[in-house]
Amino acid sequence: MQHAELRRRFLDFFAARGHAVVKSSPLLPDDPSVLFTTAGMQQFKPYYTGDADAAKDFGSLNTASVQKCVRTSDIDEVGDESHLTFFEMLGNFSFGDYFKKDAIAWAHEFITKELGLEIEYVTVFGGEPSTGSGQGVPEDTESAAIWREIAPDVQVRKAGRADNFWGPTGDEGPCGPTTEIYVDGIEIWNVVFNQYYQSKDGSLGPLKTQGIDTGMGLERLAKVVQKAETVFETDLFAPMMALLPESIGARTRRIVADHARAVAFMIADGVRPSNKEQGYVLRRLMRRVIVHEHLSSGSFDASQILDAVVIAYQGDYPELDATVVREVFVHEKEKFSRTLKHGLKEMAKLPVIDSAAAFRLYESFGLPYEIIKELGGDSAKDLTRGDFDERFREHQEKSRAGAEKKFGGHGLLLDTGELKAADESELKVVTRLHTATHLLHAALRKVLGDEVQQAGSDITVERTRFDFSFPRKLTDEEITGVQDIVNDIIGKDLPVNKEVMPKAEAEKTGALFFFKEKYPDPVNVYYVGKDLGSAFSKEFCGGPHVTHTGEIGTVRIIKEEAVGAGTRRIRATVQP
Ligand code: SER
Repeated sequence: MQHAELRRRFLDFFAARGHAVVKSSPLLPDDPSVLFTTAGMQQFKPYYTGDADAAKDFGSLNTASVQKCVRTSDIDEVGDESHLTFFEMLGNFSFGDYFKKDAIAWAHEFITKELGLEIEYVTVFGGEPSTGSGQGVPEDTESAAIWREIAPDVQVRKAGRADNFWGPTGDEGPCGPTTEIYVDGIEIWNVVFNQYYQSKDGSLGPLKTQGIDTGMGLERLAKVVQKAETVFETDLFAPMMALLPESIGARTRRIVADHARAVAFMIADGVRPSNKEQGYVLRRLMRRVIVHEHLSSGSFDASQILDAVVIAYQGDYPELDATVVREVFVHEKEKFSRTLKHGLKEMAKLPVIDSAAAFRLYESFGLPYEIIKELGGDSAKDLTRGDFDERFREHQEKSRAGAEKKFGGHGLLLDTGELKAADESELKVVTRLHTATHLLHAALRKVLGDEVQQAGSDITVERTRFDFSFPRKLTDEEITGVQDIVNDIIGKDLPVNKEVMPKAEAEKTGALFFFKEKYPDPVNVYYVGKDLGSAFSKEFCGGPHVTHTGEIGTVRIIKEEAVGAGTRRIRATVQP
């Protein structure tokens, strides 16, 4: 059974049992405490906490999805038989409807009847005693009893908090005991019973809406269904593995195939290589691929591997654009290639590579930790990621302090509260995103009506995040409609003008303003179009903005979601 059929069977199975099928959310979540979406439940967090209403947004209290995920915690393990940085997760979710009994029964039915697999054993949460400071958590006897009733032949093992307790994604959130299903020696399905809310201090309290959160990695499932030796021998990896000759070694083939998927998907969701946060992760993954390509002396072409990823996944993930992925990759490769050879040469000269030496190699030649560790051999045997990261942090702190001195106190070149930019190149991007935000605001009102009022806005170099009042989830057509209007205005290359006027007069022009913001008098009105009267967009604003809309590039709405009752949030990126 091919992976496409596994996806389809999973969604059909749960759709037939009252679940609304929800699209994957982007890899960049709105939760500032995590860098990437690491689980299917990430986009559903507000439905467990009562901050959003599933019945209203999905027409059901139960959902199912195939979620694209990135987990960087396993980066050092990639190259073995099963670890991946990018994967897809099949999941079914309930926000206050069904609970343990149905969740276990359906998981059992799907695995044994729908797929005809044999469950080797399952695990349940064995409880955790309270300690001096730590709060105890009771054993999940209910799940064990349900398993015994549904599948008397299946062995039920107990495990502790490290293995059978999920939670939370980020620094707080829903969590609870899990039951895990093992087939052919690997855990394939994690069924979480969200019944607690873990606060930042680690304490557990009751959860507003008890629920179900399950996650089954598509790659692992494909491995057991297809009886493949490793995940890399499943049909999911076939197109990439076919382009990677065996002569480069199994480990390298796996690293390149894995990283290529993560790289393509990150780029598609707007991440660009940089020295921080998501961009730093992307840069490291790209550079590892580039180094292996270099060392293999032409036995594979990394751009072709990326193309293969796009071709394989585009049908299900239309955000993948071969040209954009290739451009971003080639650009990084050109930059990195200038120093790569020298870097490798320097590295080979070092008898011992400790964290100081490794960091110098990174700083002067751009060699990432992974590569130094991987290729450094004996010289790098004592180098640890912890020590390297510590050097990296120290360095960042020093440059932050330097920037603070230069820019007077706040460490950023620009920080208006709404817009943040660390340097000139970031300033250019946030300026484009800022004008794009005005266009989005105006387009939202065109498509959804004047009910739309700004409720917040936050712009970083990665994206703009715009909150607005609106009572329900936007349809796909509405989102596309808004995006098309914005890109149409950009295509017309309209001028962006500013007029300074007394506040009372400015209010009469119909220019939009944000009720939470205090504006000076006189006030700046920025408008897009030839004259204020007929302008497509006009807003009270302090700037900065581009001079013509054509400078913005292409705007893409990458996410739409609820943030509390009656307020929606969109995120959008700009591409050159
Ligand atoms: N959140 C759980 C996991 O990621 C189940 O989806 O394993």
